[in-house]
Amino acid sequence: MQLITKSALKLPVTYSFRALARSYATVGDKIPSTSVHENSPGNEVDLSKETAKGKSILVGVPGAFSPGCSQKHIPGYIKNSDAFKNKGYDQIFVLAVNDPFVTKAWGEELTDKNGKSSIRFLADSTGAFAKDLDLLFDATKVFGNERSKRYALVVEDGKITETFIEPDNTSVDKSDATKVLEKI
Ligand code: BEZ
Repeated sequence: MQLITKSALKLPVTYSFRALARSYATVGDKIPSTSVHENSPGNEVDLSKETAKGKSILVGVPGAFSPGCSQKHIPGYIKNSDAFKNKGYDQIFVLAVNDPFVTKAWGEELTDKNGKSSIRFLADSTGAFAKDLDLLFDATKVFGNERSKRYALVVEDGKITETFIEPDNTSVDKSDATKVLEKI
């Protein structure tokens, strides 16, 4: 009689579970309470609380100071921040898997170059926030670790109402500020 090992039995189950598992941030999901940091490691921010009331936009980027993020993606949100406000989106948060000293310096540089806005730059240092939303990807070749996919999430009263997640992780296309503005 042929013995079937436990691991041989487990393999297909694991695969089918992965195939069926819900992926990426989805409409209706609650914003996680996983801590992120603003300007310094001592300044914790809980986005589930920050977004609990009203309309907000969360913008995820692969890396502070990377060309696509610095020259195109986030400048679009800075330049259009009044247009988002006019549609009731008073809060825009930018999230990167970087430390808070880096996100602070990045926010200051982008403000100097593109003008003042009320956009807040947040450090998801370990990637735990992006992981909770299933929005991490393997960026080891470029950044040395896992990073956030590029995305924009529209949030109302603490829940996601629309998602704009780049299918290739890094392009500035679906999540471009002007395209998001057209759809909200
Ligand atoms: C960027 O320019 O934003 C970028 C470049 C390489 C990988 C990911 C992002």
